[in-house]
Amino acid sequence: MALTTFLLCAFTLTLILYGSPETSEKHNSSDLRVLCTCNKIAEALSGASQVFFPPASEYLSDIEHAAPSSTEASACSVEPGSVEDVSEILRILGSTRTTFAVKCGGHATNPGFSSTTGVQISMSRFNETKVNSISGTVEVGAGLTWGQVYATLESTGVNVVGGRVAGVGVAGLTLGGGYSFLTSQYGLALDNVAGYELVLPNGTITNVTSTDRDLWFGLRGGLNNFGIVTKFVLKSHPQSEIWGGLYFYAENQLDAIKGALVDFQQKNDTKAEVIVTLSYSSGQFSIGVAYFYDAPTPSRVFDDLLDIPATEGNVSIRSFSDLVQSLSSLVGNTNGLRLVVQSVYSPAVFDAFVNQIKVRGARLWALDKNVTLGASLEPFDEGLFSHGSDSAYPPDRSYAVFPTDISVLWSNASLDKTTAFALRNISDTIHEAALTDGQNVRHAAVYMNYALFGTPLEDMYGENVERLRKIRVAIDPEDVMGLAGGWKF
Ligand SMILES: Cc1cc2nc3c(=O)[nH]c(=O)nc-3n(C[C@H](O)[C@H](O)[C@H](O)COP(=O)(O)OP(=O)(O)OC[C@H]3O[C@@H](n4cnc5c(N)ncnc54)[C@H](O)[C@@H]3O)c2cc1C
Ligand SMILES: *[C@@H]1O[C@H](CO)[C@@H](O)[C@H](O)[C@H]1NC(C)=O
Ligand SMILES: *[C@@H]1O[C@H](CO)[C@@H](O)[C@H](O)[C@H]1NC(C)=O
Ligand SMILES: *[C@@H]1O[C@H](CO)[C@@H](O)[C@H](O)[C@H]1NC(C)=O
Ligand SMILES: *[C@@H]1O[C@H](CO)[C@@H](O)[C@H](O)[C@H]1NC(C)=O
Ligand SMILES: *[C@@H]1O[C@H](CO)[C@@H](O)[C@H](O)[C@H]1NC(C)=O
Ligand SMILES: *[C@@H]1O[C@H](CO)[C@@H](O)[C@H](O)[C@H]1NC(C)=O
Ligand SMILES: *[C@@H]1O[C@H](CO)[C@@H](O)[C@H](O)[C@H]1NC(C)=O
Ligand SMILES: *[C@@H]1O[C@H](CO)[C@@H](O)[C@H](O)[C@H]1NC(C)=O
Ligand SMILES: *[C@@H]1O[C@H](CO)[C@@H](O)[C@H](O)[C@H]1NC(C)=O
Repeated sequence: MALTTFLLCAFTLTLILYGSPETSEKHNSSDLRVLCTCNKIAEALSGASQVFFPPASEYLSDIEHAAPSSTEASACSVEPGSVEDVSEILRILGSTRTTFAVKCGGHATNPGFSSTTGVQISMSRFNETKVNSISGTVEVGAGLTWGQVYATLESTGVNVVGGRVAGVGVAGLTLGGGYSFLTSQYGLALDNVAGYELVLPNGTITNVTSTDRDLWFGLRGGLNNFGIVTKFVLKSHPQSEIWGGLYFYAENQLDAIKGALVDFQQKNDTKAEVIVTLSYSSGQFSIGVAYFYDAPTPSRVFDDLLDIPATEGNVSIRSFSDLVQSLSSLVGNTNGLRLVVQSVYSPAVFDAFVNQIKVRGARLWALDKNVTLGASLEPFDEGLFSHGSDSAYPPDRSYAVFPTDISVLWSNASLDKTTAFALRNISDTIHEAALTDGQNVRHAAVYMNYALFGTPLEDMYGENVERLRKIRVAIDPEDVMGLAGGWKF
């Protein structure tokens, strides 16, 4: 393979210089330049790393995303296996100005955020989970999914603050914020980072801790703007067995659930979390509630909710890892469908959510029988932002905002624009409903890990945008990370 690409690369340069009508029909000069970069990378890497081309199975898994709507066919993929090789790759991509993407768990739903037609980097070989009981931390490789991390930690008696669906990646979730079952107790995932091992955009390898003022601020919410993270050092917390699961309810229980939720929130029990999902699928509206309590026996916080008869589902004493696995198979799977998400806040406008999901769900379903329109309300404790210091996200810690994730699943690619438009319209409608309701949401930050492409930076990072732009210019004057997609400062 290396020899073939080498020859192709040499040939490419000849073509770019002298042109060839037949070949340029198949490969335009920009495609050939990318192949050339792939070759350069392959030559520079140590034995720990590898470059793959289509149709190798490694290539296919490197470009794969949770939803096919955010998977793109890159020219090649590279699996770095050492920090030094990540550094080498970034230097080559920067000097050749080649577009690229960095993927951890591949759960970004915006096309181009962790996918590319250029060079796809998959971090999967950074797969170590190491408990350090002396420092009270867990070192976690930047290519792991939360399912892998929880499975490894299951027998250790400690846990970290991370995702609620197994396939979501450690890197995207932690670099973007990270709402967890443990968030009311310990804050966001980014509030529970003790350090990062980072390859800067110019290839310099560094460790970032709270003493690095600007990078520490920027990495906590700044996603891929400041380089490629290879390792996270996460604070650990004791973990016993937990109580949790999922129940589904009939539509005529809506009012009862709404009332019980208000009551649930007023109890301020930080060990308790619920995710309430309103969805429209197969011509029907349904309600699901995911329950979590951080002990084998819950307090009385769920009493009102549990009095409401469920139609199916089950809740039990189990390990944390088991809960995440079971929720993922029940509700966290895209089943090969296309997916976009958008973030709004304020579970308080419950009726507006119900109305939007029903009406807009039915309309979208008429266009594609695979449509599921859902809204997941995530009421956390009011003090959720009190567990950390200033960070890129959230822009204002004095003000609690609870993200709601609105999502559409569909199958017909001709509806890509329609679904994105509907999603934005639904979130705008809910925002208006919240304002009408008298809520102070004008400056509420949208959670960028749930935000639809095209959302203005100011809506997510608020007054932090200016500082983040300055840090970006200082850290990445050549704009190497601008060659990768995503929210850009
Ligand atoms: C089914 C589902 C469940 C979800 N559940 C939750 C949840 O419980 N809580 C929550 O807060 N969010 C949740 N999310 C949102 C999730 O946090 C984001 O989609 C997140 O970006 C996914 O991370 P990833 O590593 O899987 O994504 P990827 O698509 O691999 O990457 C996302 C972004 O991170 C960047 N990135 C990846 N690796 C690196 C790296 N090593 N260095 C620098 N940049 C990197 C990418 O370039 C990209 O911009 C969920 C999303 C889905 C689809
Ligand atoms: C050449 O390929 C690049 C990358 O795939 C693409 O963005 C560009 O539009 C193509 N140009 C032409 C003229 O086809
Ligand atoms: C971690 O990655 C290495 C290198 O790709 C691989 O050999 C090893 O099997 C992986 N370990 C696990 C637990 O997946
Ligand atoms: C980063 O810290 C690790 C220990 O966690 C150390 O092995 C490594 O040498 C440090 N790297 C740099 C560039 O300081
Ligand atoms: C819960 O917290 C809110 C806001 O901090 C407070 O107003 C309320 O009194 C608390 N309720 C209980 C039962 O502690
Ligand atoms: C738990 O509920 C789910 C959803 O109804 C169902 O698929 C599963 O079989 C149930 N498990 C048990 C052990 O009852
Ligand atoms: C629904 O999606 C599945 C999986 O992508 C696909 O095979 C099927 O054709 C789709 N059905 C319709 C009606 O579009
Ligand atoms: C997808 O939508 C287009 C345009 O509405 C339609 O022509 C096509 O039949 C649809 N495909 C499927 C599989 O339903
Ligand atoms: C939603 O879209 C409709 C047109 O389809 C428009 O009339 C309405 O104003 C939009 N709502 C918002 C809040 O943008
Ligand atoms: C790489 O970037 C860092 C951060 O801006 C800077 O401190 C360092 O001097 C740069 N290294 C080189 C070799 O340019």
